[in-house]
Amino acid sequence: MDTFTFYNPVKLIFGKDQTEQLKEEVPKYGKKVLMVYGGGSIKKNGLYDQITGLLKEIDAEVFELSGVEPNPRLTTAEKGIEIAKKENIDFILAVGGGSVIDCTKLIAAGAKYDGAAWDLVTKKAFASEALPFGTVLTLAATGSEMNAGSVITNEETQEKYGWGSPATFPQFSILDPQNTFTVPKDQTIYGMVDMMSHLFEQYYHNVSNTPVQDRLIESVLRTVIETAPKLVNDLENYELRETILYSGTLALNGMLQMGYRGDWASHNIEHAVSAVYDIPHAGGLAILFPNWMKHNLEVNEARFAQMAVRVFDVDPEGKSDREIGEEGIQRLREFWTEIGAPSTLADYDINDEKVDLMADKAMVNGEFGNFKKLNKDDVVKILTASL
Ligand code: NZQ
Ligand code: ZN
Repeated sequence: MDTFTFYNPVKLIFGKDQTEQLKEEVPKYGKKVLMVYGGGSIKKNGLYDQITGLLKEIDAEVFELSGVEPNPRLTTAEKGIEIAKKENIDFILAVGGGSVIDCTKLIAAGAKYDGAAWDLVTKKAFASEALPFGTVLTLAATGSEMNAGSVITNEETQEKYGWGSPATFPQFSILDPQNTFTVPKDQTIYGMVDMMSHLFEQYYHNVSNTPVQDRLIESVLRTVIETAPKLVNDLENYELRETILYSGTLALNGMLQMGYRGDWASHNIEHAVSAVYDIPHAGGLAILFPNWMKHNLEVNEARFAQMAVRVFDVDPEGKSDREIGEEGIQRLREFWTEIGAPSTLADYDINDEKVDLMADKAMVNGEFGNFKKLNKDDVVKILTASL
């Protein structure tokens, strides 16, 4: 293992009817609350009424920013920053999925920064402080509820980058599986693909002696694989939602990535794709990740074989590591197709026209990927294989 320091201050509040805990948590930070949410799902399923009711009970003065888009935009965060500064907001409450939470992180940091918010995203400036914020998570996917990361799209320049700092951890996150019951089938599938992708990103590294980390990742992957086909046909099943909600948080809260750095190249390529085409993040990952795997199989065939045997139950008898690894990648592709995820960019009507542009966007900070450094030629090959 490499040396590491683990830090995660997020108070995680998990389980049935825990949204009520807002009454305990929010008053710790003040009276003026900016509630941030998306395109209206929380109004349809009653969560908006429930939360505004709870905030009323504690006499909070509530301001609202609605309409945060999937792939949240810089301009929307800027609106939130304006409200936060103008109204002297004490606390921000994000109610939604990864997009709402990521947007909230930029609002929180932007409210304490005098320059352009985009500086924080491009790392021209460091977010050394932020307004306190909490989340009520409504979609199991990104892990944003328990990490400091945020991914923001600048629609004008077609750029989408991840950023974050120790100041952008939520103070608390409330995860009630019931709040995810109304997530539609497609978003439920995307969420599971995203958390699996986070696990793969972390599994592919070149550090030796990580047996505990390997088995932790393998066990979460096996659990998602076991649960996903049941959940897509039983969307209001509490126990299945509970399992997936916990898996998504565990997959990207830092617990599994101690002692090594994950690869994260597939995410970087996907962010370039969704910056140009505004497709769902995990739709892009479902297409790209198996092609990243094929492209990098030769880097460490034994590691791909280990994944294939331990997670996808590939029978290793009489086969080379390469053959076992290839079979594992094939099983992954079949599994994602079976649960309803896309498999080619053509599924989103994307052709080869902008492959070069997407590759350039992915390369903006030079070569990337910790398992294997990718150059532009590699990225073009992975994108072309994904068409
Ligand atoms: O906007 P509303 O109306 O609320 O609808 C949303 C949205 O259309 C809907 N939804 C959410 N909860 C629902 C619901 N619909 C019904 N019932 C509910 N309970 O789902 C749609 C997608 O929501 P979104 O927040 O965009 O999804 P997700 O959580 O997958 O977030 C995706 C974003 O997170 C970034 C992605 O790049 C993308 O921008 N990521 C953030 C990461 C992080 N901060 O750590 C890591 C990830 O790898 C990822 O890159
Ligand atoms: Zn992701």
